[in-house]
Amino acid sequence: MESPKSSTIHDVAKRAGVSLSTVSRVLNDSASVSPQTREKVEAAINALQYEKSRAESLKQPQATQMVGLVIPDILNPFFPLLIKGIENASKIHDYSLILCDSENDETLEQQHINTLCDRGVDGIILIPSSGATHVEKLVKKGFPFVFLDRFIEMEGASNVTSDNEEGAYQAVKYLLKLGHPRILIITGPRDLSTEQARLKGVQRALDEEGIASQADLFVCGKYNQEDAYQAVVNVLQKKTGFTAIFATNDMMAFGAKKALEEHDLKIPDDISLVGYDDILFSSIISLTSVAQPTYEMGRNAMMLLLDLIHERITTPQHIVLRPSMVIRGSCKRR
Ligand code: RIB
Repeated sequence: MESPKSSTIHDVAKRAGVSLSTVSRVLNDSASVSPQTREKVEAAINALQYEKSRAESLKQPQATQMVGLVIPDILNPFFPLLIKGIENASKIHDYSLILCDSENDETLEQQHINTLCDRGVDGIILIPSSGATHVEKLVKKGFPFVFLDRFIEMEGASNVTSDNEEGAYQAVKYLLKLGHPRILIITGPRDLSTEQARLKGVQRALDEEGIASQADLFVCGKYNQEDAYQAVVNVLQKKTGFTAIFATNDMMAFGAKKALEEHDLKIPDDISLVGYDDILFSSIISLTSVAQPTYEMGRNAMMLLLDLIHERITTPQHIVLRPSMVIRGSCKRR
């Protein structure tokens, strides 16, 4: 039987259904290839009995000057300013940004991460939708990677966050000082690091004032308007008494506001309301909110990623920026 004509890298790419640069990264054992793609390429190499030429083995995958950003919810107004910080920093350093929306879905998030690797990005910034353990292998291989805003405790992973515990502490302390001992707390998804830290801040403020936390005053809003609206309607129907609400993001504060007004409760005369994020629209409804250093978080994440890509930093970094309260007209002394 004739030996198969010597196959080329083009044959391998065609058979595996991937780009030449992806085959090159597999041949050079680059970290930025998903396990599924690596498997496909290796199967094609074996089937074609391909042997890379000396020239190809010397060829390192070229840097693409592209970075990937995966966010959990493109419709949440918190994220545009975060993206702006990243995009401005990437532009200054001549990098292009590929933006992906995981729609709060971990499977879609994993698909985005795999696609970004296959496209050959030089690094990735991820705001995880939940567990994100699927990036563990990539991180352990030393692929340039930064968690932003939310993070997972993971060996080798860098992260940039704001001090969520301090922000929530300031918000609840402020309401307690205004004389509101019964505060309805509307939380986001409790598996997220941001939410866990904010709940710690809430508890620290209550403990300092000697107020026991009441389970009926904690409801989950999943960081969106609709769930928060329904949660407040349910609490009002149960006639759980409270004189203030702290929502751990502004979208949920907007949902709470809608529910209160439908029940003829005025802000701040009847109920004081504090949000978190201080998004663009919060000033329009005079919402008191905890402002995150959102633009700076994004910029810091991109600068850190560039340091990792260019190996100016080789150990994981943890950058924590400070939030601050913006006092407007949505709260009143009781
Ligand atoms: O509003 C979206 C929330 O998710 C923000 O509080 C931000 O910190 C992110 O974790």
